[in-house]
Amino acid sequence: MKTSTLLLALFALPLSVFAADITGSWKSEFDSQIGLQKYTFTFKQDGANLTGKANSEAGDRKREAELKDGKVEGDVVSFVEMMNFQENEIRITYTGKLSADANEIKFTREVGEIAKEEIVAKREQTAFAASSPAAKALRIKAGKDSPLTDSSGKVWLAEQGFEGGATVEHDPAVAITGTKTPELFQSEHYSMDAFSCKIPNGSYVAKLYFAETYDGITGPGERVFSFNVQGHEFKDFDVWVKAGGPNRAYIETVPVEVTNQVFRIGFTSKVENPQINAIEIFPQSGVDISAAVPTQAATAVAATEPVAATPVVAEPAPTGPAATPVLQIDAGKVTGQVSPGFFGLMTEEINFSYEGGLYGELIRNRSFKADAIVPSVQADTYEAGKYLPVSYRPDTKPRFWTAVGGALLVLDASNPLNEFLNVSLRLEAASATAAAPAGIANGGYWGIPIKPKTTYTVSFFAKAAAGFTGPVTVSIESADGKTCFASVAIKGLTTEWRRFEAKLKTRNVPASKDNVFKLTTQTPGTLWLQNVSLFPPTYKNRPNGNRADIMELLAAMKPKFLRLPGGNYVEGNAFNQRFNWKETIGPVEQRPGHPSCWGYWSTDGMGLLEYAEWCEDLEMEPVLAVFAGYCLGGGGHVEAGPKLEPYVQEALEEIEYLTGDARTTRWGARRAHDGHPKPFPLHYIEVGNEDWFDRSGSHEGRFTQFFDAIKAKYPHLKVISSVGHEQRESIWVKSRLPDLVDEHFYRNQQDMEANFHQYDHRSRAADQSKVFVGEWATRVGSPTPNMAGALGDAAWMCGLERNADVVLMECFAPLFVNVSQLTGNGRSMQWESDLIGYDALNSYGSPSYHVETMFAQNCGADILPIQAEGIPVIEQTPPAGRRGGAPAPRRVSALYYSATRDAKSGVIFLKVVNVEGKAQQINIQLNGATRIDPKGQAVVLSANSPSDTNAINDRDKLVPHTETVNGLSASFTREFPPYSFTILKLRTK
Ligand code: AHR
Repeated sequence: MKTSTLLLALFALPLSVFAADITGSWKSEFDSQIGLQKYTFTFKQDGANLTGKANSEAGDRKREAELKDGKVEGDVVSFVEMMNFQENEIRITYTGKLSADANEIKFTREVGEIAKEEIVAKREQTAFAASSPAAKALRIKAGKDSPLTDSSGKVWLAEQGFEGGATVEHDPAVAITGTKTPELFQSEHYSMDAFSCKIPNGSYVAKLYFAETYDGITGPGERVFSFNVQGHEFKDFDVWVKAGGPNRAYIETVPVEVTNQVFRIGFTSKVENPQINAIEIFPQSGVDISAAVPTQAATAVAATEPVAATPVVAEPAPTGPAATPVLQIDAGKVTGQVSPGFFGLMTEEINFSYEGGLYGELIRNRSFKADAIVPSVQADTYEAGKYLPVSYRPDTKPRFWTAVGGALLVLDASNPLNEFLNVSLRLEAASATAAAPAGIANGGYWGIPIKPKTTYTVSFFAKAAAGFTGPVTVSIESADGKTCFASVAIKGLTTEWRRFEAKLKTRNVPASKDNVFKLTTQTPGTLWLQNVSLFPPTYKNRPNGNRADIMELLAAMKPKFLRLPGGNYVEGNAFNQRFNWKETIGPVEQRPGHPSCWGYWSTDGMGLLEYAEWCEDLEMEPVLAVFAGYCLGGGGHVEAGPKLEPYVQEALEEIEYLTGDARTTRWGARRAHDGHPKPFPLHYIEVGNEDWFDRSGSHEGRFTQFFDAIKAKYPHLKVISSVGHEQRESIWVKSRLPDLVDEHFYRNQQDMEANFHQYDHRSRAADQSKVFVGEWATRVGSPTPNMAGALGDAAWMCGLERNADVVLMECFAPLFVNVSQLTGNGRSMQWESDLIGYDALNSYGSPSYHVETMFAQNCGADILPIQAEGIPVIEQTPPAGRRGGAPAPRRVSALYYSATRDAKSGVIFLKVVNVEGKAQQINIQLNGATRIDPKGQAVVLSANSPSDTNAINDRDKLVPHTETVNGLSASFTREFPPYSFTILKLRTK
């Protein structure tokens, strides 16, 4: 026998053995030598073994006999009935064949050597079996919201019992081979954490149906996952490999024992999400489970969830749909400690985050470099560290500046301020008088904001052609020129470059933003200007600092870290366009600036030191992403080895700049010279950003080189790989163990909620990397997320918080958006669904911002287990995703939850998210708490509609409120409003 045939035979045996179960009652009537005989066979099948009884009647004679030597081998059934006849034991042998629908057995019945007849035994029909030809099995069709009768007549229940994940239907035109029932493979559930259902204890055979139908999977190894069926582990399961290619059916058959009345399959993603098309469970006893999980009951089972980081415990029996859901907190047990790195911030120069955002500068294009011609320099011609000046087209009028009076403006590369700001604005005022001044105006970032009784600092570099004596006047005026809010005349211009500074103070005027900054002369002449700057008062009065209102929003978030300086911004579109930290330090007029990869010029006024001072002001730590020799898209990369070494050194120096001693290290001394002698705390370094985009295969080597160098010089630093384990395993870092891996998720609300359990099964083993969810967002709502987004965020964050012992850090992204011009050329938004929105004057937190803030302000270090029961399930139709088509509606939990406790104060923070549009009563049970204060607090964010939101003109529509809660005890019931996120603060000391 050829090996392949042998293997086939070996596999074929258990498959056919378990193909049907004849356990139950069978009837047969037949004519014989002694007249009509009526038989009832009661079969009990246990695998291939068959036992049971034969009860028979012939005339008025009744007999009962035990069956002997019973066997079921595939569809062949055989046994012996012993009969005592005239003191002799006679063997009646039955050898039969089971029909295809498993309801009929045709036997050859031999009574010793006396008689031989052909008889038919028929399965006794139960109510269910009568309507379903192959009775007793439970059949679930994944991805279908209504029952399906397959082409062989079997009825499959609509999908139910899944935890997490999503469903998808495939194009029915794509043929599925290797099956007679292709319709079973045309929809699936994917990305789930588990499937479970309630069935009686006993022996079962489960058949799991798989097919790889996603066109994004193009070969073996691209979808690998593990699953565990009642203790039977299927590790690194590859549907493609199992089925022998795409669109091919594969059925895995597993004999299992159920001992706690729950049948459960746990799924773990390895490379890509798990998927399954159908599940069939055959009882090996007489029990009928075909209707054991009616939709509603299954719903409750599906939502009975084990808690993060705790072993799955036997679940309490589910209550019916009408029963009050229960959240049972075990205060006597701590399943983990919330990492001190929860929660953080992440942003970059995107959406006018700094320029026109957090960075205080009000003048747009202050250095006149927005028109610079910047080539894209590739790695092989780029000399790391070498400054490359940019050039300008002749006769260019600088962007964002306009002429006042009859002035002429032009970029002048032959009168630069210095080699970095290697251009200036030449202002020619051929005629200028007091009544008709000439000069320049700047409208800022969609307006120059003014507030009452506020002092603004103007500064600029200027020189004049011989003969010009000035003065020049700087002012803030309304855009229509009718109101001057503040102005000051500045004297002293000469033919040499000089820096000027003045204060502009407003009176008690109303706040406004449709204003302009002007610099004018009342006498004719020619001037050159550079670094024309206007600053409002900044947060904590830092020179070159940040906008106070936005910093205050951030301060309320109590962030623990800032991931900086990107995102894509760290990489840039080319080697000379990356965030080159050494060109972002020192006096601002010596920073050349560079084009942001998000399409506009960055002055780098927000440089490395400003980032660190931003951290200092909010008492958070930098998480420093270093440039790792890889640029975005066609920007290229440097292979590991000597050519990468200069970038590794740059990174080490960058670390030294932030942390080095001011007296004993070169870059520490430079930091002190730049104004900050005290080193900054730093514990985490990320190597690059999203290096999984690097298809060259260079990532592993580059990471290794950075990792080794950083660990050698700074062994205490934790090194983060920017290739997270949400990516396919083949590209994970293997040569070293990254301390953390950075995983990014931008998803719709449904997917966020469906992934509530994502990290429950993440390995906590010492030889596994921890997780940094360094970018994530529920992308619903624009420019900032609406309540639907906030609910998705809250559900997802509950999942992160429950696993905050392995997910050490998390940060929403992006953080900021300037909402002044959402569309069109030169728009202020490059990326939708950002946490905080603002224009020149005002800023606001989105509902998602409030969710983040509520989490950060209400979190203890102890993670407490919660047992949930009877959680209601709702049907959602997710928007079409990357897999296209019309996604099928799916059932997901309506409630999400997490509990932590501050050990010192004994306060338990119970977070509950109700994503449904109706209020929900929940019975909260608190076990293991010695004392429960009857009075507590609730912080609640809720909305009338998921599309409700905050906006620049309606900034506080949705804000959390705090209320006192009475009657708290070891068991109490509370109503959670529709579309709400609630934090209950329960005092237990
Ligand atoms: O957050 C927006 C962008 O998304 C980041 O720059 C990048 O890292 C990710 O692709």
